[in-house]
Amino acid sequence: MDISACPYHSKLSKEFKPFDLTDPFPVYKKAREEEPIFFSEELGYWVVTRYADIKEIFGNWQVFTSENAQTPPKPVPDSVRKIMVEGGIVGLSGLSGRIPPDHTRIRRIVTMAFTPKRLRKLEPDIRALAIEMIEKFEQNNHAELVKELVYDLPAFVIFMLLGVPKEEVTQVKAWAISRMMLTFSETTEEEQLFHANQVVKYWQYCKDMVTRRKEQLGDDFPSDLVRLQQEGYEINDQEIAAMCYNQLFAGHETTTSLMGNGIRELLKYRENWEKLCANPALIPGAIEEILRFNPSVITWRRRAAEEATVGGVTFPKGANLLLIMGSGNRDESVFPNGETLDIERTNAKEHLSFGSGIHYCLGAPLAKLEFKIVLEELTKRFPQLQLKPNQTFEFAFNTSFRAPIALEVEW
Ligand code: HEM
Repeated sequence: MDISACPYHSKLSKEFKPFDLTDPFPVYKKAREEEPIFFSEELGYWVVTRYADIKEIFGNWQVFTSENAQTPPKPVPDSVRKIMVEGGIVGLSGLSGRIPPDHTRIRRIVTMAFTPKRLRKLEPDIRALAIEMIEKFEQNNHAELVKELVYDLPAFVIFMLLGVPKEEVTQVKAWAISRMMLTFSETTEEEQLFHANQVVKYWQYCKDMVTRRKEQLGDDFPSDLVRLQQEGYEINDQEIAAMCYNQLFAGHETTTSLMGNGIRELLKYRENWEKLCANPALIPGAIEEILRFNPSVITWRRRAAEEATVGGVTFPKGANLLLIMGSGNRDESVFPNGETLDIERTNAKEHLSFGSGIHYCLGAPLAKLEFKIVLEELTKRFPQLQLKPNQTFEFAFNTSFRAPIALEVEW
């Protein structure tokens, strides 16, 4: 079927609300069954919903480039673009928006700095931090877990990784939020102007961070990259700064959302919480299943570098694609009873939530480690944990990052 000539005929286009992530799963299911690839008029993107098609696109980086992954979903006004161009932000990516050969070269060096050894070094500090945060509310009989635990924890972990001093944390975090708003949300021109100015400051901070590490090396991720550069590995200052610029963003909201979604689902289908309390060895498998069932990065983007056909649909050259991992992960042809959370599912790990292929998420082991520690510490202390009744869950208005803004629990 070649529908490229008339992309606007899609039935699903009207039902699909790209920025409203409150409960997108019924529309995803309908799309998988009736129109697995359709054109979203609102977004101007082709939307891909089946597992096999998403995996094929992720796997073919030559044809489906990731170069649009970090650009705002809709064209930005000239006033905003001017600030970004002058601030050096346009076209800036750590890894996910780059393609080979640059991607291969930089990813190899970054992998050398982001090692299991660095994770092992971080683990006791992550646990100590989690315990300290939990102890602050342990004596109460209720908590708002986003505010009191899962929002700050991954941010502090990335700050440890990057070696950002405590007194700079609040400012850096505010800049990183602007980075997300500009790239993934729908905002007014006035808001975009504000965020553009913020990200320019954030970018300057990252460049200064590299300069500071060159003056004095420390025991952190940017210092490791500078060390590798000094040993002769081919990575320049701008590329190191871009990794830092993206790392904070890549590793914070994503992990907050994993934990927010995860705890919510485990408590919503509470027999799962009970199983974990009785047998913590089930925690790693449960994390994979949560990633499958309710991924924190629910969609990701690609662009067709040439005309190409997937799943019987021909995309014109230059077509923008929105891959719905949150849909592919529930595709019944791969995950029987895909709409059900089953923490003992044997193939949960085949989910698409960290992408696939050459861009597969570098931080996946860190995100899973953080959530494992949090679940171990929570299940140990709160076997009675439950969702506070009658709460409504709100989700940030954006295309890709889905998690409850607040999560009230009691015990
Ligand atoms: C639950 C948490 C996380 C989720 C769901 C997630 C998801 C993703 C996704 C979907 C991609 C794009 C994959 C693709 O294009 O094929 C990605 C790439 C990436 N992620 Fe994550 N991520 C998470 C946590 C982290 C953390 C903690 C870090 C770092 C500290 C991180 C660093 C990266 C980097 C550097 C890339 C780019 C890799 C490349 O292009 O080669 N992520 N992640």
